[in-house]
Amino acid sequence: MSSSTGPYPAGPAPAEGVAPKPARKLLIRTWGCQMNVYDSGRMADILAPLGYAPTESAEEADMVILNTCHIREKASEKVFSDLGRLRETKKARAAEGRQTVIAVAGCVAQAEGAEITARAPWVDIVLGPQTYHRLPEMVARASRAAGAVIETDFPAEDKFDHLPEARAPQGPVAFLTIQEGCDKFCSFCVVPYTRGAEFSRPAAAILAEARQLAANGAREIALLGQNVNAWAGASPDGHTWRLARLLRELAEIPGVARLRYTTSHPRDMDDDLISAHGEIPSLMPYLHLPVQSGSDKVLAAMNRGHKAELYIRLADRLREARPDLALTSDFIVGHPGETSADFEATMRLVERIGFAGAYSFKYSARPGTPAASQPGPVAEAEKDVRLQALQAVLRRQQDDFNRACVGRVVDVLVTGTGRHPGQVAGRSPWLQPVHATGAAPVGAVVSMQLRAALPNSLSATMAHEESAAA
Ligand code: 5AD
Ligand code: SF4
Repeated sequence: MSSSTGPYPAGPAPAEGVAPKPARKLLIRTWGCQMNVYDSGRMADILAPLGYAPTESAEEADMVILNTCHIREKASEKVFSDLGRLRETKKARAAEGRQTVIAVAGCVAQAEGAEITARAPWVDIVLGPQTYHRLPEMVARASRAAGAVIETDFPAEDKFDHLPEARAPQGPVAFLTIQEGCDKFCSFCVVPYTRGAEFSRPAAAILAEARQLAANGAREIALLGQNVNAWAGASPDGHTWRLARLLRELAEIPGVARLRYTTSHPRDMDDDLISAHGEIPSLMPYLHLPVQSGSDKVLAAMNRGHKAELYIRLADRLREARPDLALTSDFIVGHPGETSADFEATMRLVERIGFAGAYSFKYSARPGTPAASQPGPVAEAEKDVRLQALQAVLRRQQDDFNRACVGRVVDVLVTGTGRHPGQVAGRSPWLQPVHATGAAPVGAVVSMQLRAALPNSLSATMAHEESAAA
């Protein structure tokens, strides 16, 4: 599994008959988490009224936004190499008398604001995740002025209040950010510094956005937050709701066939949320629960605030509530102080729990985080060995999980046409890509029989066609 997303396909071109604005093109490239994918969509929404229509070509783009991720070192370096290429494009366009505004958004911008403009002075705008609503003003200033505009402060006001209602027609799958930031301060992680303190949107605003998404055709809503299950929002009844209650309310919205939430912290999996997995039929049987390590000693060094046993207890209770639940996870190998015995404890935990998929990483020191100055660094070569061993087990578990699905009849949400003519593409309850021969409208939830597990997808036949043919 890869942890980055490609260029974000921004909203559609303005409808015919809408007052013509000067035709301008916007390219947004998105790295990192689904929160960034969501933010990219909102930035496209904010810029659409200024006449920016999406493009995927840097040569065509009057404005380029790199929406970045700082969570691992490689991601920030990729941003700088992309910026190097954009410098050439900007020069070539300038030679033809065309202006190009280059913006860096997201967590790299938050963490390295001034360094970006020092290393890449051709960048016009640097904006942190809390300042997207100021984008139109910054674009206007950047188009007029020489000198970069840097906006990365955490303002007191809620950035969500300033964003326009998402108007762009959405596909059948929509992301909805309900929570931002993190107060957990894991030793290795930059998020508490780049995204700031935990903040939960009020329930009424989330429900209103979900209703609008459903009215625009969304059938599956994925709730997003760095610590999504820490959500504790003001509710219309004056009480603070937790995530389980919010999910129950969202499940009542007509048209919403599927709910998910990501990413969760084990310490915030409360009893009601575990029960919700057994009680809300539209809550998909799937949970991404980062484990990071299976060693109590490393978990303590990571400041996770719990022992490995908590993962086992949670996995067992979740599966009791929802027996077909698939768990996915994140792992880090080679955190400072991790011995081979600690790594073996991670391997044992993986075998004990069993995962349907996982992301795994070699620890990389992030400047300013506590782990960066912890003793006992692990040699790169040793990290490589551990990562390969871990990934081999995780890959086998993923293959086993996919193969075990073959033969089952499951609901597939149709998301588009397949790679070959006459095919539809969709996703299973466990987020596996599925393709099947036949026709069904985008947004339909179709009963399909899974027939074969291919390397990156499952093939299926439409169950009703089967029975019609029988
Ligand atoms: N080194 C390696 N992996 C990291 N992650 C976060 N910070 C680091 C780091 N410094 C991983 C964690 C997290 C995922 C999003 O990225 O596993 O859950
Ligand atoms: Fe980072 Fe830990 Fe917060 Fe997750 S819980 S965002 S890993 S600090």
